[in-house]
Amino acid sequence: LNNGLALTPPMGWLSWERFRCNVDCKKYPKDCISEELFIEMADRIVSDGFKDAGYEYINIDDCWMKQEREPDGRLEPDPERFPHGIKFLADYMHSKGLKLGIYQDFGTYTCMGYPGIVNYMEQDAKTFAEWGVDMLKLDGCHSHPKDMDKGYILMGNHLNHTGHRMVYSCSWPFYQLHIGMEPNYALISKHCNLWRNFDDIQDSWDSIQKIIDFYGDNQEVMAPHAGPGHWNDPDMIIIGNYGLSYDQAKAQMAVWAVLAAPLLMSNDLRNLHAEFKDILQNKGVIAVNQDPLGIQGKRIFKKERIEIWRKPITPIIHGYHSFALLFLNRRTDGTPTQVKTAANELGLLNPSGYHVVDLFDGGDYGIVAPADHLSVMVNPTGVTIVKATALK
Ligand code: DGJ
Repeated sequence: LNNGLALTPPMGWLSWERFRCNVDCKKYPKDCISEELFIEMADRIVSDGFKDAGYEYINIDDCWMKQEREPDGRLEPDPERFPHGIKFLADYMHSKGLKLGIYQDFGTYTCMGYPGIVNYMEQDAKTFAEWGVDMLKLDGCHSHPKDMDKGYILMGNHLNHTGHRMVYSCSWPFYQLHIGMEPNYALISKHCNLWRNFDDIQDSWDSIQKIIDFYGDNQEVMAPHAGPGHWNDPDMIIIGNYGLSYDQAKAQMAVWAVLAAPLLMSNDLRNLHAEFKDILQNKGVIAVNQDPLGIQGKRIFKKERIEIWRKPITPIIHGYHSFALLFLNRRTDGTPTQVKTAANELGLLNPSGYHVVDLFDGGDYGIVAPADHLSVMVNPTGVTIVKATALK
């Protein structure tokens, strides 16, 4: 969507994977969906270095609304959990140099049974704009995916007419694929800034692997539609939760970077081990994700549970791209595996060669020319990611 927003993949935080639809603030005061939760996360984003690393959006997911609309049709948040209202939260985020995202659903109800947008598109768009919301995730439960080609566009037009610019996150292709339709990605990328295409992420390596397979298996259909202002969204970053080991967390970060994916963490920033924070704030990996070319990387090799993924990045020297190269080891046989590849097979064709550096441990592979080989060690259920900078 060409609205001047999301020129690089949006970065921030989203409540769903970690906090779900916990609305019981009496029993779970720290973990329920409430204004306090978003304020505390925003404070952590600023105080713990995430904002400086590029994380910016604090996004509310499902279960923020009052059970019914107001008599005039207006949406309001649950008054007990959001006593100061959404505008207050948006103002709070803006005062910290952050942005606020909100959630609504294309159908009659949200997935968790709160009022959906049917019959209220224009009114909700205006309400979100009045509140100063900066991003809208429009989910697709309780609707007909066949209506989405028209309906998501219509909602986008309503957002546009408010004059207040919002990043528009769509679940349009996901629900269409679910009923066996073929999404029109050209249309979707024209009308959305990001879109989900696959199942919800869960807190496990198994879930991460399914997403990786989906993105690899469907890359020829999906990757061409990614670029500045429009991104495929493989779902939230779950690093720092319960399900991933240290190496698996690095793997998620690196794969999402290579996919030019939105980096929306869903974790508890108040309880985050330092090693996970370091992964989430790794400058080199984030720079790959945020590279201005916005090219979605692709899987270029897959054999015996070893994969190589490649993302073209800047600088481009005499027509030769630089690259992020990701080596993914999905074996579980317990020892690090050596992956040795001819540089020209990796696409390293610049006659002047490349300077190759490991983005996690800083290891320097020196200068690699097309006739050379590149050899890396990769931990089980882990990755090695290097940056190959084209030389003059
Ligand atoms: C389905 C979406 O895919 C999830 O990300 C989350 O928004 C839930 N719905 C909320 O009900």
